[in-house]
Amino acid sequence: MLLFSGPIGVFDSGVGGLSVLRHIRSQLPGENLIYFADSGYAPYGDKSEEFVIERAFKIAGFFLKQGIKALVVACNTATAITIHLLREKYPELPIVGVEPGLKPAAAKTITGIVGVMATERTLASNKFHVLHQLLNDQTGVHFIMQPCPGMADLIEHEELDSEPVFNLVRRYLTPILEQNADTVVLGCTHYPFVRHVIEKIAAEAGNPSLHIIDTGYAVARQLKHLLDIYGLNSKGRETDIQTAAFTSGDPQTISRLIGRLLQIDMPVSYLSL
Ligand code: SIN
Repeated sequence: MLLFSGPIGVFDSGVGGLSVLRHIRSQLPGENLIYFADSGYAPYGDKSEEFVIERAFKIAGFFLKQGIKALVVACNTATAITIHLLREKYPELPIVGVEPGLKPAAAKTITGIVGVMATERTLASNKFHVLHQLLNDQTGVHFIMQPCPGMADLIEHEELDSEPVFNLVRRYLTPILEQNADTVVLGCTHYPFVRHVIEKIAAEAGNPSLHIIDTGYAVARQLKHLLDIYGLNSKGRETDIQTAAFTSGDPQTISRLIGRLLQIDMPVSYLSL
């Protein structure tokens, strides 16, 4: 049985899901949260589907033992590959995933050309193809698919302002800008942490008002909506609100990144799953 007092489990291949967690913390301040950064196995973008499915089920199993009342798959790659399987296995559990914000991008673009930055695995997934086809048919917007290998990995390694990160973003963003895109979708939850780099490179290339679509806010809103429907919103009835964080990687690195990315002090425990 799901209890309103249970925590919400949020996971990602690493620190990217923190870009979703920050919106959940701000929109649902009365909820207990558990974050799992699967950094020991990151990035998911270059792993096989079977591998990502196995990791998602291990993490979901751990969360269920902690009594979660909802699950957030805060990783585009894991959502694209596993969300239907997780929903099939846990039909009672509210489950929210992330997907590239093609719809808000189509509503925003003036040139009718939108760049989508994501992992190769996300762009190759059936879920993404269906979404892309639908939006393309409905709106006529042209979406430029830009796989970004190596970007999530650099962010995992705390490279947020370094020359390698500027070089890689420049390599992936330039063809998008050259094709006259005025809007870019961040199709990986890691990328909001280099948004400042994307903005700087776009400005240098003469596009200071490039629209950047990050879906973290919409995911938190969808989670709130689902908790209301299920009658699981804690509505501030909890008194000792906590966010607990675990990782299969190095807890010190994750804790440092949480401090840098969210400006909060959060202890992180190592957990082998
Ligand atoms: C990755 O682990 O490769 C990136 C995660 C994502 O797609 O959000």
